[in-house]
Amino acid sequence: MKKININKFSFYFMVLLLLAVVPVKAEKVEDNPGKVYLFSYTNHEDRSRNGLYFAWSTDKVNWHAIGPEHPFLQSDYGAWGSQKKMVSPFLFKDQENLWHCIWSVNTTDFTFAHAASEDLVHWKRQSYPPLNTEKNILAPQIKFTGSLYEVQWKSKVGAEVTYHKVTTRDFKEYSKIEKASYDTTLKSEVVVDGMSFEGVITEVEWSEVQTLIDAKDLSVYKSKRYSETTQQDTKRFDGLANVTAQITIHKDRKKAISPLLMGIFFEDINYAADGGLYAELIQNRDFEYTPADTKFRDYTWNSLKAWKSEGIEVTIDSISPIHENNLHYVTIKRNDELGKLVNEGFDGIPLKANEKYYFSLFAKTFEGATKLKISLVDTLGKVYTTKTINATSKNWKKYQTTLKVKESARYTQLVIEPMSNQKVGLDFISLFPAETFKQHKNGLRADLAQTIADINPKFVRFPGGCVAHGDGLDNIYRWKNTIGPLETRKPQRNIWNYHQSMGLGYFEYFQFCEDINATPLPVIAAGVPCQNSSTGGAGQQCGIPEEEMVAYIQDILDLIEWANGDKNSEWGSKRAAAGHPEPFNLKYLGIGNEDLITDVFEERFTQIFNAIQKAYPEIVVIGTVGPFYEGTDYDEGWELANKLEVPMVDEHYYVPLGWLIHNQDYYDAYDRNNAKVYLGEYASHLPGRPSNMETALSEALYLTAVERNGDVVKMTSYAPLLAKENHTQWKPDLIYFNNLEVKPTTDYYVQKLYGQNAGTIYYDTDVSIPFANEDITNRVGVSVVQDEESGDMIIKLVSMLPVPVTANLDHTQFVMNSNATLTVFAGAPDAIDVIPTTEDFKIGKEFEYTLPPYSFTVIRVQTQQ
Ligand code: AHR
Repeated sequence: MKKININKFSFYFMVLLLLAVVPVKAEKVEDNPGKVYLFSYTNHEDRSRNGLYFAWSTDKVNWHAIGPEHPFLQSDYGAWGSQKKMVSPFLFKDQENLWHCIWSVNTTDFTFAHAASEDLVHWKRQSYPPLNTEKNILAPQIKFTGSLYEVQWKSKVGAEVTYHKVTTRDFKEYSKIEKASYDTTLKSEVVVDGMSFEGVITEVEWSEVQTLIDAKDLSVYKSKRYSETTQQDTKRFDGLANVTAQITIHKDRKKAISPLLMGIFFEDINYAADGGLYAELIQNRDFEYTPADTKFRDYTWNSLKAWKSEGIEVTIDSISPIHENNLHYVTIKRNDELGKLVNEGFDGIPLKANEKYYFSLFAKTFEGATKLKISLVDTLGKVYTTKTINATSKNWKKYQTTLKVKESARYTQLVIEPMSNQKVGLDFISLFPAETFKQHKNGLRADLAQTIADINPKFVRFPGGCVAHGDGLDNIYRWKNTIGPLETRKPQRNIWNYHQSMGLGYFEYFQFCEDINATPLPVIAAGVPCQNSSTGGAGQQCGIPEEEMVAYIQDILDLIEWANGDKNSEWGSKRAAAGHPEPFNLKYLGIGNEDLITDVFEERFTQIFNAIQKAYPEIVVIGTVGPFYEGTDYDEGWELANKLEVPMVDEHYYVPLGWLIHNQDYYDAYDRNNAKVYLGEYASHLPGRPSNMETALSEALYLTAVERNGDVVKMTSYAPLLAKENHTQWKPDLIYFNNLEVKPTTDYYVQKLYGQNAGTIYYDTDVSIPFANEDITNRVGVSVVQDEESGDMIIKLVSMLPVPVTANLDHTQFVMNSNATLTVFAGAPDAIDVIPTTEDFKIGKEFEYTLPPYSFTVIRVQTQQ
């Protein structure tokens, strides 16, 4: 869409203008003072994530903060947010004018951090040279010896204090530091804004300081602009009455766009899988919950979590388990006739009238056969269904029965009552509704799956997100642990601090894709865990050891064979054995998830990428470029992708609403010859993280620009997808649910409208809004696509203005039928319960349509007579 408006300012012109008129408060200097002093420091008192701060001075006495405390560099080492600390940063310049910053990452890990920069604003990747394996670093000291920097520290093990020394020569890859010419070695004590800090004073040209001030001002300007919300609309659009738009659709200015643009991102976050999409109704069916599943080792979270008992002896045993991947099982021995073992399900077990439920368990007897009465009972003791199983085998044996339910119930529990006093071992106690999505055994919850299918997603990304690369090396998601008979799958801790049964595993993901006619898009860790890992100290900074990478890569190649190989191939035969002899037709494979781009990452990603390219050149590998739309990981990720010629990269950005409004040109200038883009995670975030018309419309608006760039942006997926009420770790999400209800958000309807009205050809439009400034033009979005299969033309119109917009649509260059449908999705910005409405609509050759305030309209027109 080309926007023509009379007061047309480019964004950058406005920024320059702003920089010119906004007084640089304390930093303001009338004349270029030539050389000045730059003080680099951090504030250790900062409770949140701190960073490298600057202040400048002409006399080393009066210091002017740039910020104050604007972080020009932040440590990315270790676990989330405030734990990523920068301790005692030391800044210096080498002979080639490259700045280096070395800092300590904390006072416990035996690692320093390093990053380099040409201008102190844009920093290259960070590295974390391990200095030794000992723990307890105390107060690192850095001094210059004449040719090298020496980093000294002392460590304390027990009462013994050891002194260590390392020179900068040891910093791998950064040999340039050896040539450092800056000879100020002492840290100085400087008072900035009334507080005293220790840091490094360097003499620099004023222009370098000016660059820092400009960068800080730009950042302040941007965050103000991006924090715009509709709350200021009354003031912003005071006096605005009639907005008219002339929209001309050009038949000759068209391009092919991706047929896979709208997809979904499925991650097991917010109980999206167990207790959510995965239809299993028994929680902790395998007795494998462990305190280690939770963040702070909650000891109530153990093998008996979600289970309770009365009148029976209950023990957890692991001798001769059902399978080595499922070590624990329960033994029960009745004490009195009312003895029972009860499972509370996931917030209870909901029942639907006239439905069947498949029950199964594994049992082994210790003292002879025993009957087990299986019932579903509510809290008042009302029994909804009951059956008896006769456990007879001394060895593990599966028993199953079907329970029929006549009445619905919101909350029941599973009750197992031994009918004799013999001890019996039980494991893998399972209950599924027969009515799963597409009636698959071990299937998905039908209402949730259908809600997802209604988006008409063209691909499904799974299993994450952070779940894919895990919390530390041992928590990396291994697809092989998730296939095969359920009792042989290996459950593991979910990075979001609960338990993953892996009942919803790779086979089920692929099957779901097939069921909804979506392309599977698995994402595999790039040999490194999540950059925010909290286990193992070093988190992301560790990678799978070099000697294990061959096997790790083979696992990835095996996945491709499992998905696409002949049913007689080694891995293809496992797929066939699971009930799918035909290949799944895997085409896309994500490697990495918004990782920190470090040397450790690059080495492993490159090995994996090269191996896949060699063995399966037809697979489109999707690389990763960090968690933001700019910054070090974005730059370094793109650089690596270009170097390796990775065909596609996964971009992520959760952004304030104003970012989406003011960055609709984000992809316009992308080089079409570089990697294509998968916008794998995005969402509009307002303060308090609601989902409402305002967030939904900002996404609808931005998606008009994404469709315009559908030649370079090949796929998109809003994130996260699902959230179970009262079990939510992340907001906002696309679809909320509880055991009985599915609650799609306003943002869901935007995804659905785009998914159901996708096109394969984009037609350029001119949109002219007389007398409009950018505040207005940036809030009106138009996208016109054609779906080649139906031939239908689809006109999408978005307005985030508080007044109606009268649009005159000129499509005279097309032969269109007058029959159309009009879908309108409109409501107050804070409305959450709005649903789109669709009606028949007649269009003329040129026609007028008035966009309601705060609205998204889809006009779908048949082109055939
Ligand atoms: O979507 C939630 C999380 O956001 C994902 O797990 C992660 O990739 C991102 O940080």
